Amino acid sequence: MSNNRIICLVDMDCFYVQCEQRLLPDKWGKPCAVAQYNNWGGGGIIAVNYEARAFGIKRGMRGNDCMKLCHDLHIFPVPAKNDKADLTRYRDASSEVFQVIDEYIQSLEKENKVSEQIILERASVDEAFLDLTKFINSKPLKLPDIQDLEAFNTKLNYNDLSLKEWIEQIKVRGVYNEQHLQLIMGALLVGRLRQLIYEKTQFKCSAGISHNKMLAKLTCGKNKPNAQTILPMEGVPTYFESVRITDVRSLGGKLGKQVKEMFKIETMAQLNQISQFLLNSSFDSSTAKWLHQLTMGIDDEIVTNRKLSKSIGCGKNFPGKNALSKPQDIKHWINVLCEEIFTRMENDRLTNKRLANQIVVGFSTAKKANSSKSINLDLVGDQYPKTDYIASKVIQTVMTSSEQFEPFQNLSIVATKFTDIKPDQFKTTTIDKFFKKTDIPKQNNSKLIISDEMEKSKNNNLTTKIEEIRDFDLCAQSKLDTDGDKVSSKMESFFFRKILSLYDFNNQNIYKMEFENESKEQQIVD
Ligand code: CTP
Ligand code: CA
Ligand code: CA
Repeated sequence: MSNNRIICLVDMDCFYVQCEQRLLPDKWGKPCAVAQYNNWGGGGIIAVNYEARAFGIKRGMRGNDCMKLCHDLHIFPVPAKNDKADLTRYRDASSEVFQVIDEYIQSLEKENKVSEQIILERASVDEAFLDLTKFINSKPLKLPDIQDLEAFNTKLNYNDLSLKEWIEQIKVRGVYNEQHLQLIMGALLVGRLRQLIYEKTQFKCSAGISHNKMLAKLTCGKNKPNAQTILPMEGVPTYFESVRITDVRSLGGKLGKQVKEMFKIETMAQLNQISQFLLNSSFDSSTAKWLHQLTMGIDDEIVTNRKLSKSIGCGKNFPGKNALSKPQDIKHWINVLCEEIFTRMENDRLTNKRLANQIVVGFSTAKKANSSKSINLDLVGDQYPKTDYIASKVIQTVMTSSEQFEPFQNLSIVATKFTDIKPDQFKTTTIDKFFKKTDIPKQNNSKLIISDEMEKSKNNNLTTKIEEIRDFDLCAQSKLDTDGDKVSSKMESFFFRKILSLYDFNNQNIYKMEFENESKEQQIVD
């Protein structure tokens, strides 16, 4: 059945702009945009709020051109670090939103005394799919209060009917269509979620409520910002008259373009008119069938249970004369990117207890766009190799490729193929692996040097976590007091001069601690 699921998409409105406005609250309600680090032409615009869109300002424009359209436009520059865009602020804001969604799901399930009924899939930095089917099926069918739905700015995408008119129609007929009621119940659940996201993060978002991912995503964009739109199956034919083929999520790339050009058409309704015979003669039979189903609003793709992103990546463009031609410049930027990605991978390892198994390096030259090479990370147990090792492998891979003589116009590094670390393995990884018990008698001359920040963090009672031990020949008799993943500062152990980095999860700082012990002769090398 094509309409027996209740699938929603929640997408933050002009997300990067809202992240910036939250930090500069007097900019709420005013036309604003975010420009990418690059001062040429006033920067490249990557996000535009709705007040600025009213002036015709769009993503991809140059800041200077936007200012001509709207003199009052405020342009936030993307934060930069090491001469490149630093998206940490937006990723952190994204985590906040996902935390709210996660907590909401848990509270709903707890209230209903069920578990794992709602499926959440993180689809990008600012959007998530929810499969509410099981949850709604477990509840009695009930028409929610129209005022409640209106309070969440709920719209209908079915011809030109308003939500109220539609609900009246359902009532008049006296027969409740199960799917309609379930969509409306879904809208109420999502409306409450959007309200909660707003209360906890100050961010507004929109949502689409329908029967599959394709329809939920499309209808989510119908009444942005700060609104949610129900799309019943009956609404699809009329709606698809105005939906461009390339706006459909699985047709945004090459295939969509190919379909458009092949049949000289623009909309999904036009694609629906292309006969099965013609589709079959142009594509393999499964693609032809799938395409035809899409045109009827049918999409069987499941919502996958995934709260984390599938990859961690970073990159930088070197346009025009900035293209990297000298090997030392390429090496420098690979090192910078590896440093960033490694820090993020390591934080991800500790927080999400998983490891990436592969790194993909991408680069473009004037002759060839988007080349990529994969590197398998030789994982030793549950640890990543050191940054230097990753960087040297990346350098080796890139520099020995045939494109090396052409200047690089961009470079990117993406960590993928994540696998979970088993809980028992993780424990050994973080602590025991490096702190071997030995028979060395307790020394009195051990010295623990704690940086000022560390001292402050202790006083603030912050929890810290061992992030990385730089030298592996460490030997210590330790009694680290571990409480789950937290490491308290009760350190009775003695160390032979080592440096630890501690990651403070409350403030997201990395502190370095240096431990010293003069009895180096007793050092045992692993
Ligand atoms: N983004 C980007 N480059 C792109 C696409 C998106 O940097 N090519 C960033 C944007 O800055 C944006 C965020 O990713 O804020 C989410 O993208 P998207 O949802 O497509 O757009 P929004 O800006 O959130 O706007 P909308 O309200 O239309 O969703
Ligand atoms: Ca968005
Ligand atoms: Ca989005």
